[in-house]
Amino acid sequence: MAPGDLRELLALARTFRARIGQNPAALQTGIVGDELKGRVIANLFFEDSTRTRVSFSVAARRLGADIIDLSSVGSSTNKGETVADTAANIAAMGVDGIVIRHKSSGAAHMVVKALEALQKPLVGPERTGSLRYEAHLSKPCSVINAGDGRHEHPTQGLLDIYTVAEAFDRLSNFDLSGLTVGIVGDISSSRVARSGIAGFTALGARVICIGPPSLVPGAIRSLGCEVSHDLDAVLGELDVVNVLRIQFERHDGGPASNKADNAPAAKSSNAIASLREYAEFFALHDERARRLKPGAIIMHPGPINRGVELTSTVADSGRSVVLRQVSHGVAVRMAAMALCIG
Ligand code: CP
Repeated sequence: MAPGDLRELLALARTFRARIGQNPAALQTGIVGDELKGRVIANLFFEDSTRTRVSFSVAARRLGADIIDLSSVGSSTNKGETVADTAANIAAMGVDGIVIRHKSSGAAHMVVKALEALQKPLVGPERTGSLRYEAHLSKPCSVINAGDGRHEHPTQGLLDIYTVAEAFDRLSNFDLSGLTVGIVGDISSSRVARSGIAGFTALGARVICIGPPSLVPGAIRSLGCEVSHDLDAVLGELDVVNVLRIQFERHDGGPASNKADNAPAAKSSNAIASLREYAEFFALHDERARRLKPGAIIMHPGPINRGVELTSTVADSGRSVVLRQVSHGVAVRMAAMALCIG
């Protein structure tokens, strides 16, 4: 997104946050606006989620939409239906928007293309029979990416930006210049990192991706960030430490490879020698937290693997804004859906 579009969406999220805070009735009804009144939105989550899924549901309800939840468990994808076919069938029911999470990079884009093709006018010999339809799908259905593989997690990036802007008093203009954001951990597997790098740099922040070379390849610089393999060397420069978990499920040699969708993730990977060694060099623990700049904040998109990338005392400390992130996620998703589906 261009900086102007980012700021427009974030400003709308700021409006929704204010409405939630100022409207006592909202606490009872849960509804603070009618931007999505009459709209039906489907949550299609083909990969596990706690925060994003619930957050989109809460956000949709706060703006008056009906929300339908579908996961791979219990859906016809288990019978071999493609994701594009699943989305097309849901759109054919008149659903106004689809929020999709999938383990494959590009899944949301693929669904957009599939739905666009079905909205094209039918012409020529295809268009036969006594009833004449204009197109396979008679109305548009918006698609919002709730995380696709290693590629992007746009609303996570936006809520992270919102959280930084709040912490550093930049909510008036979302100008993040002068701030240094460190993203620590498994950058190569992380869609959160990719969306974060794009968003933070677009709004003027300096971004340093930090971790071992196997998880933070130098090529990531092409996205506009810096790279460091030495957390201790750059710790004192950071205003924001955004800590990511190691995504074992995406690693060779990890649980990844043939893991069933709902199997718990084991903690092994060919990309790191040992968890103990990883934690020694890259975990954010009490001693490292003490060396942070005054005013620096600690973020984590969740789920946290306590004791691996972040110790419990640091995760629960006063510097941690982890639950502010989650809270901002609702307003950011309200804004995303209002702009895309409202
Ligand atoms: N941050 C995030 O995407 O969390 P979930 O996987 O729980 O949605």
